Amino acid sequence: MKMGNQSVISEFLLLGLPIEPEQQDLFYVLFLAMYVTTVLGNLLIVVLIRLDSHLHMPMYLFLSNLSFSDLCFSSVTMPKLLQNMQSQVPSIPYAGCLAQMYFFLLFADLESFLLVAMAYDRYVAICFPLHYTIIMSPRLCLSLVVLSWVLTTSISLLHTLLMAHLSFCADNVIPHFFCDMSALLKLACSDIQINEMVIFILGGLVIIVPFLLIFLSYARIVSSILKVPSARGIRKAFSTCGSHLSVVSLFYGTIIGLYLCPSDNNSTVKETVMAVMYTVVTPMLNPFIYSLRNQDIKGALGRIFSKWTIQFSLGEGF
Ligand SMILES: *[C@@H]1O[C@H](CO)[C@@H](O)[C@H](O)[C@H]1NC(C)=O
Repeated sequence: MKMGNQSVISEFLLLGLPIEPEQQDLFYVLFLAMYVTTVLGNLLIVVLIRLDSHLHMPMYLFLSNLSFSDLCFSSVTMPKLLQNMQSQVPSIPYAGCLAQMYFFLLFADLESFLLVAMAYDRYVAICFPLHYTIIMSPRLCLSLVVLSWVLTTSISLLHTLLMAHLSFCADNVIPHFFCDMSALLKLACSDIQINEMVIFILGGLVIIVPFLLIFLSYARIVSSILKVPSARGIRKAFSTCGSHLSVVSLFYGTIIGLYLCPSDNNSTVKETVMAVMYTVVTPMLNPFIYSLRNQDIKGALGRIFSKWTIQFSLGEGF
């Protein structure tokens, strides 16, 4: 059967970023700094929301989930990229490649579903403020998070099993910095029709449907604000939704730019730059977009730091 062919390739070569050798060190430092920032920023959000009981509200629990997802998402690609930038033979074993693809899809889709949950939460908060605590019960929040996990784990498992079914022959060079599903499909030497069909259908489910739901929520929010226009209401709505909308546009803007505006002639560089945008830049910016403009998070930071300072000075005293 196909086993004979499959065993031909035991590892892939990841070509990495299209940068000159003399700039390699500069980019290594840059990406290392971005990765450290991503990890610390998102970790801070998760810890802060866990520690501060003022932040135990649906909006912040979803945000904490999003930060956790961002942290994992960048850890799927960045450590391997950094390691490969330092090594002469940037290889990845066959199983490692499939695992990377699985977790990449898992956390990318999870982010998509969590953004829907967050948009729905804002929609309920602004359009039904009096029923907010009843509708967004802890049970519903947990169900939304669990549903997102169940959907994303099964979707990425399906993609990965279909990929594992393909055989790879001679060509094992991936012109990318991680095991991207479409880059892998181009290397396969068996029939990829089923894979492409599943990608088309599920791609619609995890990109288009969440995008439409988010769009719908914000359209309802805007129309409900315009019905009773007041300076205070508009300011409140913009301050809570502005940061959400920037994250949503950052996330979907790059994905849509990448997959819906394909350019076939020499597009590897463009694809890689876009991929860097959503695998490296978006997870790094998310915690800053949310916390820099958010009074609750700033307040929580202030409380934690003053508590630490007091404990520290008490400790000094003894
Ligand atoms: C994710 O959200 C659920 C439900 O709101 C919450 O119980 C859980 O603590 C959150 N997880 C993280 C890591 O923030």
